[in-house]
Amino acid sequence: MALKRQASLCFVFGFALFFEITAADLSYSAPEEMRPGSIVGNIAKDLGLEVAKLFTRKARIDTEENYQHYCDIDLKTGNFVIREKIDREELCGERVSCMLKFELVVESPLELHRISLLILDVNDNSPVFPKDTVKLEIRESAVKGARYRVNEAHDADIGQNAVKQYSLQKNDHFVLSVREDVDGTKSIELVLDKELDREKEHDLNFILTAVDGGNPQRSGSAVIHVTVLDANDNAPVFDQAVYKANLPENSNLNTLVVIVSASDADEGVNGEVSYEFNRITERAKKVFSLDSKTGEIKVIGMVDFETNSKYEMRIEAKDGYGLSSDAKVMIDITDVNDNAPVIYIKSMMNPTAENVPTGTEVGIINVQDRDSENNGQVRCSIQQGVPFKLVPSIKNYYSLVTTGQLDRELVSDYNITITATDEGSPSLSSSKCVQLSVADINDNPPVFEEQSYNAYVSENNKPGSTLCSVSARDPDWRQNGTVVYSLLAGEVNGAPVSSYLSVNGDTGVMHAVRSFDYEQFRSFKVHVMARDNGSPPLTSNVTVSVFISDVNDNAPQILYPSPESNSFMTELVPKAAHGGSLVSKVIAVDADSGQNAWLSYQIVKSTDPGLFTIGVHSGEIRTLRDISESDSMKQNLVVAVKDNGQPSLSATCSMYLLISDNLAEVPELKDLSYNESNSKLTSYLIIALVSVSTFFLTFIIIFLGFRFCRRRKPRLLFDGAVAIPSGYLPPNYADVDGTGTLRSTYNYDAYLTTGSRTSDFKFVTSYNDNTLPADQTLKKSPSDFLEFFFLNTIISNVLN
Ligand SMILES: *[C@@H]1O[C@H](CO)[C@@H](O)[C@H](O)[C@H]1NC(C)=O
Ligand SMILES: *[C@@H]1O[C@H](CO)[C@@H](O)[C@H](O)[C@H]1NC(C)=O
Ligand SMILES: *[C@@H]1O[C@H](CO)[C@@H](O)[C@H](O)[C@H]1NC(C)=O
Ligand SMILES: *[C@@H]1O[C@H](CO)[C@@H](O)[C@H](O)[C@H]1NC(C)=O
Repeated sequence: MALKRQASLCFVFGFALFFEITAADLSYSAPEEMRPGSIVGNIAKDLGLEVAKLFTRKARIDTEENYQHYCDIDLKTGNFVIREKIDREELCGERVSCMLKFELVVESPLELHRISLLILDVNDNSPVFPKDTVKLEIRESAVKGARYRVNEAHDADIGQNAVKQYSLQKNDHFVLSVREDVDGTKSIELVLDKELDREKEHDLNFILTAVDGGNPQRSGSAVIHVTVLDANDNAPVFDQAVYKANLPENSNLNTLVVIVSASDADEGVNGEVSYEFNRITERAKKVFSLDSKTGEIKVIGMVDFETNSKYEMRIEAKDGYGLSSDAKVMIDITDVNDNAPVIYIKSMMNPTAENVPTGTEVGIINVQDRDSENNGQVRCSIQQGVPFKLVPSIKNYYSLVTTGQLDRELVSDYNITITATDEGSPSLSSSKCVQLSVADINDNPPVFEEQSYNAYVSENNKPGSTLCSVSARDPDWRQNGTVVYSLLAGEVNGAPVSSYLSVNGDTGVMHAVRSFDYEQFRSFKVHVMARDNGSPPLTSNVTVSVFISDVNDNAPQILYPSPESNSFMTELVPKAAHGGSLVSKVIAVDADSGQNAWLSYQIVKSTDPGLFTIGVHSGEIRTLRDISESDSMKQNLVVAVKDNGQPSLSATCSMYLLISDNLAEVPELKDLSYNESNSKLTSYLIIALVSVSTFFLTFIIIFLGFRFCRRRKPRLLFDGAVAIPSGYLPPNYADVDGTGTLRSTYNYDAYLTTGSRTSDFKFVTSYNDNTLPADQTLKKSPSDFLEFFFLNTIISNVLN
């Protein structure tokens, strides 16, 4: 964009400052010698950057060369300020334009602005003649109009501030002639205006003054000393007005550059020519020597194309009389590829977040090669296998751009090697390693090491005991990868899970909060959540199943005979009972399960040990032999019921057996004691039962007596069922089939169902079912059973 704006910015020390803005870059100008702290311009305003953000965006001034210390940006105001006094002459010498180039780098987003600062000349140097005294030797025969060359004065300043005018002190013989050559150099000559007469004047002295065009003006002067000679002499003459030479840089010492040669028409001493540098820069003086006799110019110092590519000097040839002439020598230095490219990291987004989109610029790289032309043409490349590439931007600048998604969990650091190669022959290259770290983003949720967890615990555990531990991993960094465990809200049997379990937030170890009861529930499930500490946090959850195992903590419970109403639990054993007859049955249950509920029965004490036996697993009490008359009528048995747990638990009960055919003989029946809590109905029922039973027993006895005459042996019943001698009816013992109704034959045979030899009563088995609700206990009043038995007996008997 060609649009340029020029505005008067401010006045410092009376000098006007100007700045120009092009589309992207800034150019300012400032006079040399400005005080440190002087403001050149406001970068922020001119570039439209927010002053407030300069600091956070890390605005800074950078430079390709070593100018960095001269200027800086004031982050508070956005001003471009001078930091160190700039001496134009020192920096740029005789160059017409003295331009310092800077770059302004701002980050996020990365921007680079070029700033050029033109240093304006200030007239701080006076014209200086090479020598304070100019000696001229002139023959008296010299004619009017003869010209004598004088070396020009030099002013380090340029332009207007350079030498502008010469003036010659008024005298009788000479006038001044100043001619400008095509190349801009001036030739100053004294022109003889009136012939000299050696007899009158041997020596003449007058002053030559040079003034510059600056304001205020500065001047310098030299004394011209003219010696009038007698003889007829000739000045030496160079064979070329200008000598040109090309010299490769880094040439060895003593390399011959060029030979200058002047000849003198005079003979002898007067014709001996000597050479010397007339006007030569300090820098050139250190690089070249001139042999005063041979006129050979040789290398005596380091020839560096990059510091100086061109030398110009004037050489004077003098003869024995001191007559002189001069010639120009121009030496061009040719470039050699002696500088490897240099890579500068101008800006680096370090660390770079792992979620930056593909194509994000993460850095700016600048490559410089001080050589020129092809030797300075640089190509930049990056090593393979990293998700970055270099995109050329403005001249010699490259953007480092991502070519894929970064993942800190895979690669957290990149060592990016950038290689720069120039196109010289042979080419030089250099490389630089940039370390780029990837910053974490909370992009991974915690992951449990297992899909689900199972915990096994024995019931009656201590509250606080450890059940198991869960563990989740989160590969993110620091708090983004720190996992905290917690229970997810939920219910187990209507109570919050937290009343059953707790989880240690840091370790994932799970503890029981209460003691578990296998008889209440065998297992439950909870959900544990793992959450990281990122913001926002990520979570995952896992199921923990807790299995409670049984412990033998419940003693067998005897349902029949009821341990509470001892005296009532009297069984009648008919006197005629044969060996093997089923007399009664002990019914017990155990709330535990498995081995812990596997019951075995044992008679631990009996009145007559040889008379009764009990089925180890069935609990059925049978006669061992036929009952004889000698057997005592009252038989007491103590039965122990034991489970198979480790250690096993047991319960005992007493059973009273009455060997009798007549209930009336039973004395205990008369003083049945009733608990207050028994209902009146029970009392009535028992009274009714006693009377009905008595009636029936009487009837049975008569009937039996009648039958006994015809059949001596009791009839065995069908079905493989255990036959109970039909001659008696155990009053407290009845078999119940699946429907719960008592079956009895007309002759009062009572028989068991097929399965009763091995199993408990059907309605009793339901108590072993572990699906029993937790709050229900097995304690059912034994009297309830009795009621049931008796009622059924009575009802069925009545029906029959
Ligand atoms: C990167 O370089 C540094 C030192 O130069 C080294 O310690 C580190 O291991 C390197 N990293 C990779 C990923 O090569
Ligand atoms: C965690 O992730 C967030 C973004 O999800 C990021 O800003 C933060 O710096 C990360 N923390 C660490 C310690 O890396
Ligand atoms: C638990 O995780 C499953 C998937 O694993 C998810 O569907 C469910 O919403 C999560 N529950 C909670 C409460 O976070
Ligand atoms: C009746 O049973 C209750 C408990 O059920 C008991 O406290 C009371 O002493 C018993 N009474 C008799 C007479 O046995």
